[in-house]
Amino acid sequence: MSENVNKTLTVTIDGIECICEKGEYIFDVAKRNGIYIPTLCRHDAFDNHRACCRICIVELKQRGRTKIVTSCVYPIDGECEIFTQSDKIREERAVLYALLAHRAPDAPGLGQMGTALNVNGVDRLVTIDNEKCILCGLCVQACSSLGTGAISTVNRGVDKKVSTPFDKPSVFCVGCLSCANVCPTNAIEYVETETTRTIWNREFELQFCDECGTLMGTRESVAFAAADVELESPIVCDECRKKKLANEMMITYRFV
Ligand code: SF4
Ligand code: FES
Repeated sequence: MSENVNKTLTVTIDGIECICEKGEYIFDVAKRNGIYIPTLCRHDAFDNHRACCRICIVELKQRGRTKIVTSCVYPIDGECEIFTQSDKIREERAVLYALLAHRAPDAPGLGQMGTALNVNGVDRLVTIDNEKCILCGLCVQACSSLGTGAISTVNRGVDKKVSTPFDKPSVFCVGCLSCANVCPTNAIEYVETETTRTIWNREFELQFCDECGTLMGTRESVAFAAADVELESPIVCDECRKKKLANEMMITYRFV
């Protein structure tokens, strides 16, 4: 939600009356009311949305004028009518989709969206072979908001991509998969064996709970989450730690 929130409003989205606060983003109001607007670069984990894919565009009719706006970052500032599936929007969204599909023809997440929107790429556009990334930047945002900052966009023009510096294994990467988990197109590949995980050209040893054997992450990500507190041995997952605490409390109360 944007900063400017102080008044309740009634707006219509695709003919459905929706109550919202002044300043709420169109996308959030639509979602709350069960109205689907496709998104790619918007993720609930972040408050500051990057708004770079534009796939969430909608038509806004207000004070006798109609315009196309980006719903994930457009704050509602008064009574209005919003259309998420008008002919104009379908047309514009299909063009935006085609450009993204041309950039990343091998992205599985994008293919599914194309099917849902009933649109395809454009034949006359040259596609980039084996590309899955649409350069939305969510992975970089996830990595930097964690404080690891291991990846960034590198190069320019058609060579622009997300990577570690010089594509080398990064000492800052902890192999936590936050980047892969937020990626809307499943572009970030990693390989896991029984004991290791390899991502961004670096191999990590996996860490399992010493009590129940659950996979906790990589050794580096577990240590990072412990925020510089020296990992005690045995290393236990949250569930086992809670059980252990509960048992200790019961023992304490029994003897009070
Ligand atoms: S790898 Fe995924 S999350 Fe990162 S920029 Fe590309 S599409 Fe976005
Ligand atoms: S989801 Fe709104 S601009 Fe990408």
